[in-house]
Order: sequence, then C-alpha cells, then structure tokens
Amino acid sequence: MIMHVANLRQNYTRDGLHEDDVSDDPMQQFATWFAEASEIEEICEPNAMILGTVSPAGRPSARVVLLKDLDETGFTFFTNYTSRKGTELIANGFASLVFLWEPLERQVRIEGRVEKIPATVSDKYFHSRPRQSQIGAWASPQSEAIANREVLEQNFVELTEKYPEGTEIPRPDHWGGFKVIPDKIEFWQGRPSRLHDRLMFTLQSAGTWQRDRLAP
Ligand SMILES: Cc1cc2nc3c(=O)[nH]c(=O)nc-3n(C[C@H](O)[C@H](O)[C@H](O)COP(=O)(O)O)c2cc1C
Repeated sequence: MIMHVANLRQNYTRDGLHEDDVSDDPMQQFATWFAEASEIEEICEPNAMILGTVSPAGRPSARVVLLKDLDETGFTFFTNYTSRKGTELIANGFASLVFLWEPLERQVRIEGRVEKIPATVSDKYFHSRPRQSQIGAWASPQSEAIANREVLEQNFVELTEKYPEGTEIPRPDHWGGFKVIPDKIEFWQGRPSRLHDRLMFTLQSAGTWQRDRLAP
C-alpha cells in the first residue's frame, strides 16, 4: 500500500497525544514512535539524535550521533571514547538525547546515566561495519586538532596497507558503544494554537514510571 505521508502527518497532529493511547512503558512508547518515524520517507535518518554532554566544569555541548541499538534498558550509540563526548561521558556519567521527527511534529527528550557497553558487543558491531569505516575509526583521532586533511588521508592509506583485504581489522580500544539508560523520557506532540502535548515519564525508585502532563 502506498503511504500518504501528508495525511498521516495531519492525522497525528489532529489526534494529539492522549494519556489513554500512550503505553505505561515509555520504552515501548518510544519503540512505537520510532517505528512510525521510520515509515516516513521524508525522515531520512530517524535514528539521528542530539547527544548532550557536560564537562567536569559544567560546560554543556551537543552533537548528532546515530542510535544503533534499542532495547528495553536503553539507547546505544558508537563513538570514540577519547573524543570530547567520550571523555565527558566517562567523567560525568550522564547524558541527554533529543530526537526530532519534524514531519510528524514530534520530539522525544531523554535523560539518564551512561555506561560503556561490553567490549564483546562493541567488537561485534565494529566488525559488522564496512571495512572503510573500520579503518576510519583507527585513522581519526576524533576531536583532536590536526594539521590538515592530508593527515587523515595519509593515516587512511597507511592503515589500508597495514590491514589488506582479507585480514581482520581489530577494534581500537578507544572506540565502542555507550548506552544511555533513561530515567526521564518526554514525548512532545505538536498541536494547533501552540497547545502542544507533553507527556513526561520519570523513573521512580521502585522501578516504575510516573507519568505527568507538562505545560507546553
Ligand atoms: C547525521 C550525523 C550522524 C553522526 N553520527 C555519529 C555517530 O554515530 N558517532 C560519532 O561519534 N559521531 C557521529 N557524528 C559526528 C558527531 O556529530 C561529532 O561531530 C563527532 O562525534 C565529534 O564530537 P565531539 O568532538 O563532541 O566528541 C554524526 C554526525 C552527523 C551529522
């Protein structure tokens, strides 16, 4: 069946976000919204998310990363552990994520603590990536100042010679996954007259989620 994206958007906006239609489990609700975003042609990378970190001095920074795994416990992405974000996450232990699915007039905001995922899981994902991306992880000292672009290209050439086709490229120790384990998840749905819907889930000490409607 051909999907009529424009109608879909109108329906979502008209229907809004009612407490009765939302799962009690925000991870389940996220999975539902993520699946819906993935169906929309205009959303090229539904898994693109803005990751916020904070330096030990309390200075925030943000950048886009890609969600690569979602399970009931959290949101996993991959990066360089010695990058700015990597060192800040290791030092501070907390992160925020924002998904914006503009054609659906939806935003999801997530906050929580961060853990490195097990090395074996990072290994598996690393080796599933295209060879050139594996070499790229070695070639780029992410977030460091470099003299010029040739530095990267030279690194790439040398590494391609070091790891010829058919040899296994080991995962660098400084590259792997982080999982954001949420304790707050907010679903925002655009509505007419700026009376948008906001449903905030906050994890309670008993492990249950409290749900509050927030003013837009
Ligand atoms: C669409 C998009 C997807 C990206 N995905 C990732 C990613 O999954 N992991 C990553 O380390 N950087 C990713 N980047 C690059 C980051 O935004 C950022 O430039 C880089 O990680 C360095 O950030 P830092 O210096 O704050 O650590 C992506 C950028 C864009 C625009």
